[in-house]
Amino acid sequence: MTDFADTSDFMPHAVLIGVDLGQPHFDGELEELGLLAQTAGLEPVACITCKRQAPDAALFVGSGKAEEIRELARAHGATEILFDQSLSPAQQRNLERFFELPVNDRTMLILQIFAQRARSHEGKLQVELARLQYLSTRLVRRWSHLERQQGGIGTRGGPGERQIELDRRMIGDAIKRTRAQLQKVKRQRTTQRRQRQRTGTFAISLVGYTNAGKSTLFNALVKTRAYAADQLFATLDTTTRQLYLPQIGRSVSLSDTVGFIRDLPHGLVEAFEATLQEAVDADLLLHVVDGASPHWPEQIGEVQRVLADIGAGDVEQILVFNKIDAMPPQRQPERLQDSYAIDGKQVPRIYISAHQGQGLDALREAIARAAVSTTDQAAAGWYSQSPDGDLPPPEGGS
Ligand code: GTP
Repeated sequence: MTDFADTSDFMPHAVLIGVDLGQPHFDGELEELGLLAQTAGLEPVACITCKRQAPDAALFVGSGKAEEIRELARAHGATEILFDQSLSPAQQRNLERFFELPVNDRTMLILQIFAQRARSHEGKLQVELARLQYLSTRLVRRWSHLERQQGGIGTRGGPGERQIELDRRMIGDAIKRTRAQLQKVKRQRTTQRRQRQRTGTFAISLVGYTNAGKSTLFNALVKTRAYAADQLFATLDTTTRQLYLPQIGRSVSLSDTVGFIRDLPHGLVEAFEATLQEAVDADLLLHVVDGASPHWPEQIGEVQRVLADIGAGDVEQILVFNKIDAMPPQRQPERLQDSYAIDGKQVPRIYISAHQGQGLDALREAIARAAVSTTDQAAAGWYSQSPDGDLPPPEGGS
């Protein structure tokens, strides 16, 4: 159990709960959930983890642990309970009754952050669609207690059932409307992409786990000020800029995309398909990794999973290991360029600090090499003349 010091009086206070069900990525410190909570505007006041073979069907954690959590929440004046694992609608409802406090899970939290962050029309539509889909699965059971209380024997459709029907229809209509609007946006994007393909622009997308430093790198490369913050999902909307590469004497297009996270709600992956399409259609992915995080291997795995899901698993990649300035001395790499095995394939890896500018020239050169090798190598004639040209031979993944 952890107590958090220095909590603010102005933010809703949350107790964080993690249940170790033997999953390989269990986060014993609940570090990421804490960051997600803060990003959503909640102050974590305490956290508690426990181990179980399987979730309890009714209370997820079992009644003894639930009692302990209730006490802890009371002692800290908590206003909300947050679970790192997904709860079923029934578990969520039972827990809310037990604690007499709102209970949310990771999925809901991520949806909430996305809803707060969405800026563009398209981003808002995408989040709204995912939220509606999530709500539609929870609705029926949330109302069922009302139904049992008020809809008596022989009465078809008590207030609960009527309300469910109404809400369901409203949500169904809203989902349809939102889908249609998104379809329109998708068509516009396709037209833009076709134009780009016609002009033969080499397209690069930045992808990576949330907080890896994509926006910071984007800014550093194109020298503009896109938003970068120590919060999760600061970027929800794709931004595209031209990046001039003197090595090949022309520009390539660079797009920043939404960050990925473990257990990204499926509805969100689906809803963000239009935005993520940028990654599918890219000629090259800069897969940005927070090299200073001890969780980087799992984070790479997670990003690879989402890329495979959206059909971008085969797009060529450069692994960009960022935050070299924040890596502890024992983790500093011997060489700033090597390669790393992803799914059995060697991928070039470059260590950088997007903050301090270290490694950016090497990255620009690697991008230029990739652009030349997929377009007109011979005409550019740059590849063979590059001063510190070729990448060293593959080392094998670490
Ligand atoms: P999402 O929008 O969540 O997907 O994040 P992102 O990948 O765009 O990350 P962003 O650029 O917003 O950076 C996240 C945090 O990492 C910010 O606090 C940055 O200042 C910090 N950061 C980025 N690059 C570096 C770096 O090279 N070194 C260090 N120490 N911090 C960095």
